[in-house]
Amino acid sequence: MTEKIVLAYSGGLDTSVAIPWLMDKGYEVIAVVLNVGQPDADFDAIQQKALKVGAIDSIVVDAQDEFADHYVAPVIKANALYEGDYPLVSALSRPLIIEHLVKIAHQQNATAIAHGSTGKGNDQVRFEAAIHALDPDMKIEAPIRDFHWSREEEIDYAKEHNVPVPIGKASPYSIDANLWGRANEAGILENPWNQAPDDAWGMTVAPEEAPDEPTFLDLTFEQGVPVALNDEHMPLAAMIKKLNQIAGANGIGRIDKIENRLVGIKSREVYEAPAAAVIMAAHHDLENLTLERDVQHFKPTIENKLTNMIYEAQWISPLFDALMAFIDQTQAVVNGTVKMKLYKGNAVAVARKSAHNSLYDEDLATYTSADSFDQEAAAGFIKLWTLPTTVFEQVNHVHSEEKQHD
Ligand code: ARG
Repeated sequence: MTEKIVLAYSGGLDTSVAIPWLMDKGYEVIAVVLNVGQPDADFDAIQQKALKVGAIDSIVVDAQDEFADHYVAPVIKANALYEGDYPLVSALSRPLIIEHLVKIAHQQNATAIAHGSTGKGNDQVRFEAAIHALDPDMKIEAPIRDFHWSREEEIDYAKEHNVPVPIGKASPYSIDANLWGRANEAGILENPWNQAPDDAWGMTVAPEEAPDEPTFLDLTFEQGVPVALNDEHMPLAAMIKKLNQIAGANGIGRIDKIENRLVGIKSREVYEAPAAAVIMAAHHDLENLTLERDVQHFKPTIENKLTNMIYEAQWISPLFDALMAFIDQTQAVVNGTVKMKLYKGNAVAVARKSAHNSLYDEDLATYTSADSFDQEAAAGFIKLWTLPTTVFEQVNHVHSEEKQHD
């Protein structure tokens, strides 16, 4: 009996060539593509292409809302930016893709799952870690990693097996996109001294080409997640798409980055994440208004660990769930509205309010006569808070000794 295999399909040359390659190995191939909001994808054409190349079944899953609500929302709540600036665009979609592939594999009695990652990147680890976590008995095929073909050999193989080869000059870039953003690497970008050319960008205009007038918008959050844009309530996926348009047109969300891959090499990637830039800046600003100081000061420790876990293929793990429970607990009070100003590549918070959770007290903060802060008490507080004078005597003593030795 031939075995069935579920292939994570994109419609590109690599995963198309994988179909006859897996058939040669004796598999019946079920191609699955997830709609996670990748811009400009023609899912009908992708579905047909898989069948034409030889798949016995071709499935498209619309997972946009699931992606936004269960994968992007945690990143927003956790201010998760890998190495300070990458909002985890590709890292996020991998566990979701695998969740669906494993489900389909079980429904269709498939014994194996195939992915199209190379052997150099993070995604192979993310795919395979998730497969192992969800079904340790599932076999894994990684045709692209195991091909060891040159580009020419791949194209020859494609032609022999009736796989359509893109005509004209193939794109020099490797692009991965979803509604949270777009990652672009390879080609001319491989030399980090090369500036990214105009054609490397797909979701944003250059900041200097952006409108000369700023755009203002109000983002309303409930429990750390944006729920309304300019007072209009909408699902998170829909809001992200809208914000990608608006912020992209203002040149916002470009990230040109050298990053540490989990496989141990540094790579250069240019990212675009316009909606993420706006939402995450607004969220952080609202936390400043609503989080209690100790919680706010401690939270980045958890955030940093969570962010690295997402990047490093540990989405499905007990520690991830435990840390996320901490984050969720902190978000109960992150309710309110932030006014964002978008202008030539920058998204900044310019005003904020929270009806029930603001910890800002104007009467305490003011420098006018409305001041209710007991400034007399501050003198006593400073005495309690600062170090005893004997400590300073010691420090001064050490300093003067050092000076003498100089
Ligand atoms: N370096 C990013 C990550 O590991 C993106 C990977 C996919 N990038 C690409 N251009 N195909 O999450």
